Parts: sequence; C-alpha cells; structure tokens
Amino acid sequence: MITRRQQLTVLAAAALLAVGTARAEDTVKIGLILPMTGQQASTGREVEAGVKLWMARHGDKAGGKKVEVIVKDDATVPATTRRLAQELVVNDKVAVIAGFGITPSAMAAAPIATQSKTPMVVMAAATSAITEASPFIVRTSFTLPQASVSIAEWATKNGIKRVDTLVSDYGPGNDAEKFFVDRFKLNGGKVIESLRTPLRSPDFAPVLQKVRDDKPDALFVFLPSGQGAQFMKQFAERGLDKAGIKLIATGDVTDDDQLQEMGPVALGVVTAHHYSVAHPSEQNKKFVAAFEKANKFRPNFMAVGGYDGMRVIYNALNATHGATGEKLLDAMKGQTFESPRGPVFIDAQTRDIVQDIYIRKVEKQGDQYYNVEFETLKSVKDPGKVK
Ligand code: DHB
Repeated sequence: MITRRQQLTVLAAAALLAVGTARAEDTVKIGLILPMTGQQASTGREVEAGVKLWMARHGDKAGGKKVEVIVKDDATVPATTRRLAQELVVNDKVAVIAGFGITPSAMAAAPIATQSKTPMVVMAAATSAITEASPFIVRTSFTLPQASVSIAEWATKNGIKRVDTLVSDYGPGNDAEKFFVDRFKLNGGKVIESLRTPLRSPDFAPVLQKVRDDKPDALFVFLPSGQGAQFMKQFAERGLDKAGIKLIATGDVTDDDQLQEMGPVALGVVTAHHYSVAHPSEQNKKFVAAFEKANKFRPNFMAVGGYDGMRVIYNALNATHGATGEKLLDAMKGQTFESPRGPVFIDAQTRDIVQDIYIRKVEKQGDQYYNVEFETLKSVKDPGKVK
C-alpha cells in the first residue's frame, strides 16, 4: 500500500526533477578558459572584464536561454587549458568553450573542440594557424600577420631602410618576424639581425645591447600583452631612445593596459593594431566609459576580443534560437558588425576575423598617454591565410 504521504513525496520529487530538467534546458553554458594567474594574468583580467561588460550591457539571455559563464583559470599552462576544456565539455556540458590567452593554450584545446563538435571562440591568442587547428574555431582577436605586414608597409613608406627585429620566441613571434621581414625585404628594406627573447621571464638587456651595436634605423618588436612596460623600461635604461633608433611594433607592445606605466619613453612609438582606447567612434567612447566605470582600468585589445567574442556567441544563439554544435558554429560564421574597434567581419571560409588595422603613434593628451590612430588600412584579411 502506498500511503497518501508517500504519494505526495513521489509527486514532489517528480516535480523537482521536472523543474531541474527545465532549468538545464533553458540555460546555455559558456566555458571561459583564461590565464587568471601566472605570467599572462593581465590578459585574463581584461578578457573577463570584456565578457562581463557585454553581459552587463546586453543582459544574460540569448536565443531564449539564460546564459551562464563558467570562468576557469588555466594559469597560463597549456596542459591545464586542455584538461579544463575537456571537463567543461564532458561534465558541465558547455555549448561553447572560449577565451584562450596564449597560442599554446588555444592549440591544446583545439582537439577537444573537434572531437566534441563544440564551437570554440578564441578571444585573445593571435597566431595565424590557430583557426586551422580545428574547424570549430572562430576568432575575435586578431592575427600577428595583420599587424606585422601593416607596420612593415608603413616603415618602408617612411624612410626606414635598415632594421633589427625582436620577437617573443613562440607562435605569434614566429608569425610577426616572418611577415614583417618578408614584406620589409620585398619593399627593398634590409634586416640586419633577427633577435628573440623567451616567452617566460624574458630579459631584454642582452638583445638591446646588440641592437645598440647594430645601429639600425629602427627596431621592430612583437611581445605578448603584459611585457611591454618592462621592455620599454630597459629600452630607455640602455639609452636606445636617445641613440636615434626608432621603435616600431605591433600594438601589443604599447598595450593600453600598461601605457601609463611606460610614460614618456613610449612617446612617438609607431605601431599597427586593430584596437586603441583612443579610437574616435561614438561606440568606442561609450564602450570605454562603461568599461572604466565598471573596472577602474582601461580596456585594451584583449578586452575588446572578449566583448566581441560574447557578441558573436549572442548573435549566433539569437539567430538559431539557442542551438548547439555545428548549427551554432554555422551561425557564428559570416557575421558582420560594428565593434568598438571599428567594422568587423567573421570570414565564413576561414572563421577568422577581417578588420581595419590602424597605424598609431603614442601621444600625451592631458596627463594620459594614448595610441592615436592616424592611418587606416581597411578590411585587412589575415595575410597568413592568403596562400
Ligand atoms: C598572443 C598573446 C598575446 O598576449 C598577444 O598580445 C598576442 C598573441 C598569443 O599567444 O597568441
């Protein structure tokens, strides 16, 4: 005999189960894997703040579902990125994995995206080949060839004939060096020496001494976000700023996140990049004001990668009424929108970002330092994919 009381308990349990199921179906989870600690922690801080700002301004619903972001810290260790990606897909059943602060982390997670057919949104890492590591990858950051070819063109047009190059010795550094050198030589320039520093704990003094001895017209530099301030300090300490050696770089070096810290030594440095806090659009002014109010620090290019990454995910969820897997991925391809950085296109063929690249110069306005854009190269496709 089942008592009335037992009957009620069973009913209540069934009701709870139903609620639980409904909740799971109404929620879409996004696994955000970032370096929140370790050497690249500033990237994690900026990307996460960009993601949160998108949600603060656009709500936590998309495609009729509640969006839940699960943040995981890979501590800048690629093996950890891979394990976290696996756990997020298998245990948390996330619909999207996103973030990825450095190229080795993105590369480590790519097979998980392929095997599980989970869309993977790369918001920070920028080696050209990343999007080729899985057909499930979409990128909202940039590529080093986009920035490096652009600054090589500018250098030639502005009378720079002999250069040294200095890059961080891993994926994006390889891209930066190759694409800068190839274009600069094609334009008739001469590369005296190509120098490298390790990704982990670099010391710039020995390479800067070599640059001093070489006396090139300019030094071209790529370093990952977070290393620029220390580099600039050593550049000034060695007196290179006063030795008549011009500094040109990808915008990672005059990172908006660290530009104040660099101070006067950064004045006049010319870089090519896709985002500046000083980008003079109405949308960017509002973005920067809202970001600074929420965070008490400046957004940099990493923050914009996170913000636009969430936009791409929201757009795709809305277009598919909350689909997952390949359907969700397909809705990410081919999106066009106005970003705080300017107009953006997610190329459906390559799943990579097509965007304007700006030539900028560091200037002081009031008591603040800015990368002031003075030339625009329109709709730059990743030169790494033009075969
Ligand atoms: C990568 C990391 C950076 O911090 C950056 O500024 C550019 C590229 C990377 O590892 O892909």
